Amino acid sequence: MRIEKALEILEKKKLECGLVLKPENIYYLTGFFPSSKAVLILRAEPLLLISKMDSTRAEEINIEYKIVEKFKPELKRLRYKKVGVEKNYISLQFFEKYLMGKKLKDLSLEKVRSVKDKKEIRRIRRAIRIAEDALSTIEFDGMTEKEIAASLEYAITRKADLAFKPIVASGRNSAKPHHEPTGKRVKEGEIVIVDLGAKVNHYNCDISRTYSTDGNKKFQEVYDAVLEAQEAAIAECYAKNKIKSADDAARAVLKEYGLEKLFLHSTGHGIGLEIHEEPSINRESKGKFKEGMVVTIEPGIYRGFGVRIEDMVLVGRTPKVLTKIKK
Ligand code: GLY
Ligand code: MN
Ligand code: MN
Repeated sequence: MRIEKALEILEKKKLECGLVLKPENIYYLTGFFPSSKAVLILRAEPLLLISKMDSTRAEEINIEYKIVEKFKPELKRLRYKKVGVEKNYISLQFFEKYLMGKKLKDLSLEKVRSVKDKKEIRRIRRAIRIAEDALSTIEFDGMTEKEIAASLEYAITRKADLAFKPIVASGRNSAKPHHEPTGKRVKEGEIVIVDLGAKVNHYNCDISRTYSTDGNKKFQEVYDAVLEAQEAAIAECYAKNKIKSADDAARAVLKEYGLEKLFLHSTGHGIGLEIHEEPSINRESKGKFKEGMVVTIEPGIYRGFGVRIEDMVLVGRTPKVLTKIKK
């Protein structure tokens, strides 16, 4: 069980106790996704504290749990001097209330979570199929960005959850990587970036496509360069290769075309219970790809217009592209 793996990490770090607060991590370790405040006390005999709000779902929990009205007395009672915490998650408020004077060590589980098992990969694949089905129904004619985003949202939410609000960015708006859909109508032949994701049983996908119908030569040149950069980066996503190689490969191609300064974000990111999780694929990436990692590869160029192509890749002895929809 995953919780045993976490206990091994605790032991390696010479900690008697760890506190897990991030819902995704609690879910990863216990199979229970809290809808309200919850604290997993990791120790020889782990205990999950949940709030009354979740009491009607408690039968889903397969470790020892306690429904609490107030967390304070439960947490104050823990006398451990050294405690493992999620450094990237706990709040200053939690620290001041419960952790002052204790020796803290990081107990982030993101590294463990970056390698997916078969069940997780199945869920991600299902999320991809649903997002791709939604994307395959896309129509632009005379619609506003908001209308297109709403129809994508509807197509996804009939079958799954949204990973995030779809981005539909047309014309000059496509030059903004995090554009929020507006009431602007998409004109014939305009460039449109669509970035969308579905979520199935808590597992996310993340896909982007860029469309243009007017055969504009400048657009096509940039599109082809981004696609070449993406293919070069994908080819680097194999086990034991340096993660940074994927970022280097994308940037090297864009440099050949004099476009590297217009690439404003990282090349990709791990994805699973969260949309952005480890590993991040950028210039500073450390470490190597591991079999079972699932990552996005999404080079983009932003000038008067934008082009982004984002696919999802399963790392194995060779890279396996999970997304199938036409580019
Ligand atoms: N949709 C967010 C991203 O591509 O990272
Ligand atoms: Mn992404
Ligand atoms: Mn995206």
